[in-house]
Amino acid sequence: MSLKHLISALPKAELHLHIEGSLSPQLMWELAQKHHISLPYHSVEEIEKAYNFSDLQSFLDLYYAGADVLRNEDDFYQLMMAYLQRCHQENVVHTEIMFDPQTHTDRGVPFSTFMKGFLKAVQVAKGEYGISVKLIMSFLRHLSEAQALQTLRDAEAWYDVIDAVGLDSSELGHPPEKFERVFAEARTLGFKVVAHAGEEGPPDYIWQAINLLSVDRIDHGVRCQEDEELMELIKQRQIPLTVCPLSNLKLCVIDDMSQHNILKLLDAGLLVTVNSDDPTYFGGFLNENFEALDVALGMTEAQCRQLAKNSFTASFLSEEEKQKWIEKVD
Ligand code: HPA
Ligand code: ZN
Repeated sequence: MSLKHLISALPKAELHLHIEGSLSPQLMWELAQKHHISLPYHSVEEIEKAYNFSDLQSFLDLYYAGADVLRNEDDFYQLMMAYLQRCHQENVVHTEIMFDPQTHTDRGVPFSTFMKGFLKAVQVAKGEYGISVKLIMSFLRHLSEAQALQTLRDAEAWYDVIDAVGLDSSELGHPPEKFERVFAEARTLGFKVVAHAGEEGPPDYIWQAINLLSVDRIDHGVRCQEDEELMELIKQRQIPLTVCPLSNLKLCVIDDMSQHNILKLLDAGLLVTVNSDDPTYFGGFLNENFEALDVALGMTEAQCRQLAKNSFTASFLSEEEKQKWIEKVD
């Protein structure tokens, strides 16, 4: 079997996906028309052409502007449904999805509007495809601690359907330490915790995420290779890194895919996983991220299977569910 076939045939979990970053140019265009929102583009092709980023911030400016078309429950339903259909096509059997409540509440969309839309789609996809979903509520790190605490309280009616909290948005200048108390409260409430760190930010931000936020996983974390002691700790504790190759390329974290360190980290024994981050902005869903690695770095079948297994090991599924899927990868 060619690797491309193996990649698509293997059952996989995705652990780093921003649902707002799965908004297709087509759906953005349709929703803008429906709500009479004027976009700074005149066609779907123009939207696609605008996706040329030089760094994380230049991407985020477009990503937050794009989220402006999401206004009612059905918009959020369509957004989630389109992503889950794609998961089904790609043999992604389990996905842990980040959403940014502050992006929507800041635009006047109530918490219940997006939560109801998301949950309806999750329920339909579970019934139709058998896919399992966990939800991760992410705080925007460029906002304040007080705003994050407020968001944690606003989510109270939804605690039983949210599995984890996360930290995303502009990394440089916004170290994790600012959110130590928010994350302590989230953990007391029983949430798992994850944080973006070491994408653009230095290894020190990864240290902070581990030591101050007590994260269960690091999102990205590729810059850990600059600090040997940190790499050793991540390896010893098997702290998962949710790595996003096409995102790293598109946001110029690396200049060329042949420079990506994920397979080196894998071979060194770190619990790395492959993910798509913001697939419609970065030019590829999960299987395309695997394929891009294979084309640039030449992946062995064993590495490919190990990455698929890691995706379940690093997930928030029960030990029993993890084992069930890992056996199917072999
Ligand atoms: N990094 C930080 N914040 C984000 C990202 C990312 O890759 N995608 C959406 N929000
Ligand atoms: Zn991300």
